[in-house]
Amino acid sequence: MTFSTSLLYRHLLLLFLLLLLHVPTCPAAGGSWSVLLPSIGISAMHMQLLPNNRVVMYDRTDFGISNISLPNGKCRPNSTDCSAHSVEYDVASNSIRPLMVLTNVWCSSGSLMPDGRLIQTGGWADGYRVVRVYKSCDSCDWQEIKNGLIKQRWYATNHILPGGRQIIIGGRQAFNYEFYPKMSATDNALSLPFLVQTNDPNVENNLYPFVFLNTDGNLFIFANNRAILFDYSKNQIIRSYPTMPGGQPRNYPSTGSAVLLPLRIKQGKVDAVEVLLCGGAPKGAFVNANNGKFDGALNNCGQIKISDTNPKWIMETMPLARVMGDMLLLPNGHVLIINGASAGVAGWELGRNPVLSPVTYRPDNQIGSRFEVQNPSTKPRVYHSTAVLLHDGRVLVGGSNPHDKYVFRKVLYPTELSLEAFSPSYLDSSSSRSRPRILSPETNTTISYGKPVTIKFTVSGHVDLNSVYVTMVAPSFNTHSFSMNQRLLVLDSGNSTKVVGKVDYRVRVMAPPSGNIAPAGNYLLFVVHKEIPSPGIWVHMQ
Ligand SMILES: *[C@@H]1O[C@H](CO)[C@@H](O)[C@H](O)[C@H]1NC(C)=O
Ligand SMILES: *[C@@H]1O[C@H](CO)[C@@H](O)[C@H](O)[C@H]1NC(C)=O
Ligand SMILES: *[C@@H]1O[C@H](CO)[C@@H](O)[C@H](O)[C@H]1NC(C)=O
Ligand SMILES: *[C@@H]1O[C@H](CO)[C@@H](O)[C@H](O)[C@H]1NC(C)=O
Repeated sequence: MTFSTSLLYRHLLLLFLLLLLHVPTCPAAGGSWSVLLPSIGISAMHMQLLPNNRVVMYDRTDFGISNISLPNGKCRPNSTDCSAHSVEYDVASNSIRPLMVLTNVWCSSGSLMPDGRLIQTGGWADGYRVVRVYKSCDSCDWQEIKNGLIKQRWYATNHILPGGRQIIIGGRQAFNYEFYPKMSATDNALSLPFLVQTNDPNVENNLYPFVFLNTDGNLFIFANNRAILFDYSKNQIIRSYPTMPGGQPRNYPSTGSAVLLPLRIKQGKVDAVEVLLCGGAPKGAFVNANNGKFDGALNNCGQIKISDTNPKWIMETMPLARVMGDMLLLPNGHVLIINGASAGVAGWELGRNPVLSPVTYRPDNQIGSRFEVQNPSTKPRVYHSTAVLLHDGRVLVGGSNPHDKYVFRKVLYPTELSLEAFSPSYLDSSSSRSRPRILSPETNTTISYGKPVTIKFTVSGHVDLNSVYVTMVAPSFNTHSFSMNQRLLVLDSGNSTKVVGKVDYRVRVMAPPSGNIAPAGNYLLFVVHKEIPSPGIWVHMQ
């Protein structure tokens, strides 16, 4: 071999080795997708995870005949539609069961109650004022309470309150709020002029307001391009926050999304309560989309410390512009931004250019290194798509139907009946030796405010004791790109993780101190090690 050919040979070998090193590591970094069921018969427009690891879903009763029949040849009363518009998905068996909703649940809202029942409210037409209850069991179905609401609620937002009731805020032409259950027969709806002030005539841009419970017991309510801190018990505004820089609309139909960032509890207190709000559509986009011009979505996020008396928005740029994205809290405290489109607005036929790649956001990183683009799905999930966190750390993704009927052919984005799961990279098999598994307590354990909880867990590989933390995540109600009742608590563990066996460990945490920090009810509890969460167990906070 001459000198030059051996050099060439060595270069080729080096190139080959580099390729070998590179190819397999890239896809593993950004999560993975799998289709769970090619069709659940309906298009999952609304989703709620229940404390028995089932997910109740529904679309609307006036979509026409769905692709799944009601059980036992049943039909809805006074209707020729004998198909189901609601199903219950069982995570463990990856199967569904059809359910019967009697009245129209279209664009409604809901919240889990402290006892684990879903209370869902409103909808359209015959469903405007209906309250529906879903208590899960093998043969359970929806119960309906006619005139359960005082006002018609369509596109409202619900939140569970420290006292155990839920508040229902706004809705189309409903510039007020009410509670469920009612305290008395004279309980009335209370006016909320903020919803009038933020209502853009003919366009709205303030529906499905982003609502979060601050740790002082007041509600943060964001509509259109600004927010208030609101004392619902006195019907009083405590604080008006500055308008988000740029003044662009962020709520339906200029649909962005929002999360309450993780609440870190230290010695019974939470120092900083922060909200992150991303995406949306620029002013005028709704009118333009109706005229066939699809404006590019907003590509920025704003973060605000709502617990400050005089906070400012901190703006960041996303790697991908997005309207109709869903923002979800992952068990390790990172944020996932998933689903949606990069042009147009929410509404029938008004979105364009689906964004197939989710993005993760690490709130603890420096600005500039927080976002990471993830591997794409193959299925557009545009208007009326959904996403919820499951107990095993996967994210269940469903829905997408930008048409006012089921349409499977000859359209840009056919009605999606499938269910998919996005597995964030912490579920990669390369992380399995670092992944904790909780040994005790058992699932469904009751924990009491301010009391210590001892958690035993196992990890097969090397453990970095100081990188262990424990989180509690509230199961949220998802529809129209917003998850109601989002809350993630990082419990105070004081670095108490100890080795108790060859591969066994123990950590002592303090349960959240109060209902303002964690309203009573069911939460998923995770042990996180090196940012890799264990499968979650259910705990009942009381
Ligand atoms: C946990 O509680 C739910 C009801 O909230 C029940 O359906 C489920 O069977 C319980 N799981 C276990 C393992 O006890
Ligand atoms: C749903 O049913 C319609 C009508 O029977 C059929 O054309 C369509 O392919 C079905 N879609 C799916 C995803 O099963
Ligand atoms: C069905 O229609 C009849 C006649 O209009 C009415 O009396 C009855 O209340 C309806 N039933 C339901 C469940 O809507
Ligand atoms: C826990 O350990 C981390 C890393 O060593 C340290 O930064 C943190 O201050 C410790 N926290 C407590 C409560 O001791």
